[in-house]
Amino acid sequence: MSSIIFSGNSNPYLAKEIVSILDLPLGKAEIIRFADSECRVRIEEDVEGKDVFIIQSLSNPVDEHLMELLLLIDSVKRGEPRKIIAVLPYHGYARQDRIHRPGECLSAQVVAKLIEAVGVDKLITVELHNEAILGFFKIPVVHVSGFSVFKQAVKDLEDVVVVTPDAGALKRAQKFSEELEFPLAFVEKKRDLDHPHKISSMRVVGDVSGKTAVIVDDVIVTGGTLVNAAFLLKEKGAKQVVALATHADFVGGSDKILKEGPVDKIWVTDTIYVPPEIYFPKLRVFSSASLIAAAMKKMLK
Ligand code: R5P
Repeated sequence: MSSIIFSGNSNPYLAKEIVSILDLPLGKAEIIRFADSECRVRIEEDVEGKDVFIIQSLSNPVDEHLMELLLLIDSVKRGEPRKIIAVLPYHGYARQDRIHRPGECLSAQVVAKLIEAVGVDKLITVELHNEAILGFFKIPVVHVSGFSVFKQAVKDLEDVVVVTPDAGALKRAQKFSEELEFPLAFVEKKRDLDHPHKISSMRVVGDVSGKTAVIVDDVIVTGGTLVNAAFLLKEKGAKQVVALATHADFVGGSDKILKEGPVDKIWVTDTIYVPPEIYFPKLRVFSSASLIAAAMKKMLK
């Protein structure tokens, strides 16, 4: 049974790395934008009877990347493949996993329905904001944790306390601290739901004094969560703050906030492409390619 990989435009660098690890062909696809921003996709390969992987991170601009993914799936589907496996190194909209206030939409569920509706058979994704989203899918989903790539580097640090930056991330941080046998502390974060990205209060629970506080989060966007948590942790005596996040969906200005802020080291993976102009000395980008390739390899016939 032969397999082929297609990549959307969100992270072709990661797709190329995965292609070379798996030694599979990278399919040619034409993805064009019309002047009114509409997208048109055409695959230029015979996919009949093949297992087709489509790699696309739903990173910023999320809707553009989502639409590209949906149209790529449709063009492949029309070529009568055996199976379509969507590979989402970053699953956008995953943070909108519940209804906080009456009248809100359930975006993560809508995205799951869209992906299924166009004809995906299986999905591979990395470090979901909340595993509960898996329940929004009827198709099988392989959920890969991104944190194994950081393990050795964290083990090399001294006096570590793992810190969850908010209640939502508790399970992830708990698992990480148990695996590495480090203690756990907790930052309680309350968001101002009427103002996007605004945090209304934060407090630390647990002993961080004299320790290297390792904050474990799924994604960095504005950097606000990390910077506020790091200020608080240093106020409580942490000697160093290291932030780990699987996904770095940096928005304009977040690199400046992080560069100048109290976080001493920022470790992320390349599930989302980090352009070289954003790099700053505190930032280290780990490769997620082998992690994702390993999950894909298990599906190769
Ligand atoms: C929130 O619940 C997430 O896990 C992240 O902590 C958050 O989305 C990061 O966003 P920002 O960098 O804008 O604070």
